[in-house]
Amino acid sequence: MHDIIQQLEQKRAKARLGGGEKRIAAQHGRGKLAARERLELLLDDGSFEEWDMFVEHRCADFGMADNKIPGDGVVTGYGTINGRLVFVFSQDFTVFGGALSEAHAEKICKIMDQAMKVGAPVIGLNDSGGARIQEGVASLGGYAEVFQRNVLASGVVPQISMIMGPCAGGAVYSPAMTDFVFMVRDSSYMFVTGPEVVKTVTQEEVTAETLGGATTHTSKSGVADLAFDNDVDALLMLRRMFNYLPLNNRDKPPVRKSDDPTDRLEPSLDTLVPDNPNRPYDMKELIAKTVDDFDFFELQPDYAKNIIIGFARMDGFPVGIVANQPLVLAGCLDIKSSIKAARFVRFCDAFNIPVITFVDVPGFMPGTAQEYGGIIKHGAKLLYAYAECTVPKVTVITRKAYGGAYDVMSSKHLRGDVNLAWPNAEIAVMGAKGAVEIIFREEKNDPAKLAAREAEYKAKFANVFVAGARGYVDDVIQPHETRKRICRSLAMLRNKKLDNPWRKHGNIPL
Ligand code: HXC
Repeated sequence: MHDIIQQLEQKRAKARLGGGEKRIAAQHGRGKLAARERLELLLDDGSFEEWDMFVEHRCADFGMADNKIPGDGVVTGYGTINGRLVFVFSQDFTVFGGALSEAHAEKICKIMDQAMKVGAPVIGLNDSGGARIQEGVASLGGYAEVFQRNVLASGVVPQISMIMGPCAGGAVYSPAMTDFVFMVRDSSYMFVTGPEVVKTVTQEEVTAETLGGATTHTSKSGVADLAFDNDVDALLMLRRMFNYLPLNNRDKPPVRKSDDPTDRLEPSLDTLVPDNPNRPYDMKELIAKTVDDFDFFELQPDYAKNIIIGFARMDGFPVGIVANQPLVLAGCLDIKSSIKAARFVRFCDAFNIPVITFVDVPGFMPGTAQEYGGIIKHGAKLLYAYAECTVPKVTVITRKAYGGAYDVMSSKHLRGDVNLAWPNAEIAVMGAKGAVEIIFREEKNDPAKLAAREAEYKAKFANVFVAGARGYVDDVIQPHETRKRICRSLAMLRNKKLDNPWRKHGNIPL
């Protein structure tokens, strides 16, 4: 027995060493942690239960029969984050460059299947050279098995990808199908085809970092939600983000009560919106002053900045925040912002997280670039997302709610539960100036007359009471009481039940 125990410990020690000390040192030299070190940071101390430590690949070609490392390049299992269950895989770049073999894929699939059975999130730490070249098609099959599980798990358990090294070729599609993608600056990249192929095909010269680094994907492509400076920051922030999520789609998001009073008034909000309707203000100030402890976990802060998305808590309960940002493009909705917000609303809806929407939107962005790019289809995504969303929806119109964008931004007509407006809100087809220039076109050469028409239009339509008279807003509130009113609304909505009609699935305009 003693011998067997010793053998076991030797085997474990070998597996823990992965590709060996030299390769671990090289990994450290690149500023990256090793696969197990990452899990130690991500999970609660001592909570990790490892599975399949002794799994080996079954490839015999290219000298691989004698080149086996237990674990085969990925560490898998389960543990807890702040006491809450999570399944994890962490690719080990020191073992065959973290490349995915058939056995490596089977390990990932095993924990995904188990996560689905028990209803727990899956976090993947990606650091891999892609398909295990020696295995060929067996590796491709392995990827597809993972993809299939990503799709079946979508909307059932939260899935999060942290890209901490290479992630290239078809391998990018597993993270792409997860709910959130995070990246580490300067040490991770994602692309479908690398710089060399790009050069051959399009003659463009581009580095891996510029083509698919963290900055690129968090500011240009929108593929990733957040970028972090190093592995430690990334994993600690991932733990923070995890605290907002329920374990699965039947679970309630975790409540963390705070000392921040739900009836806290914020007098400074009464002067947040400038008198001049064409002057911007920072919507993030309103968000910070409204949520518990001024604590807002923003996602995609550098992409489509004209809309803000992220998590916060109200009275301890997690909420998703969507807000137009008047500081950027006057808060217009365009292709990128519509897609950004739509996906976030759908995530919140899938996982029982109420959505709070702050509206100051002058409309959809005009121009050929937007029309040719398909703003009709992409804007419809946000409309569709809000309309199918059945979680509690609280909307606050702080200033402009013009045209189709008024309808889209969680309006009463899209089953908004509580729609509030600040006294200065203007809910109208368009701004007064634009409106009179169209309906009184014949007076366009008479500025005095036009100004009088504008004042008349403003008084008649561009104010909150026209919508109020129709019940399109439930109440007109003082800005300083925004937090209190939202907290009360959410408390009232806590047991909301609303189902959409049965269908196989809708057909969102993709
Ligand atoms: C097997 C691999 C590997 C792979 C790397 N290695 N990638 N082994 N299959 N795909 C091994 C290397 O041989 C090396 O082994 C070790 O991992 C580290 O690799 P290095 O090249 O020394 O590291 P580095 O210089 O940092 O370069 C990392 C890299 C590069 C950029 C990822 O290794 C690379 O370009 N690899 C090939 C990438 C690739 O073409 N993958 C297939 C993509 S297609 P030793 O023993 O020397 O330490 C794909 C399709 C998926 O993934 C489709 C899904 C549908």
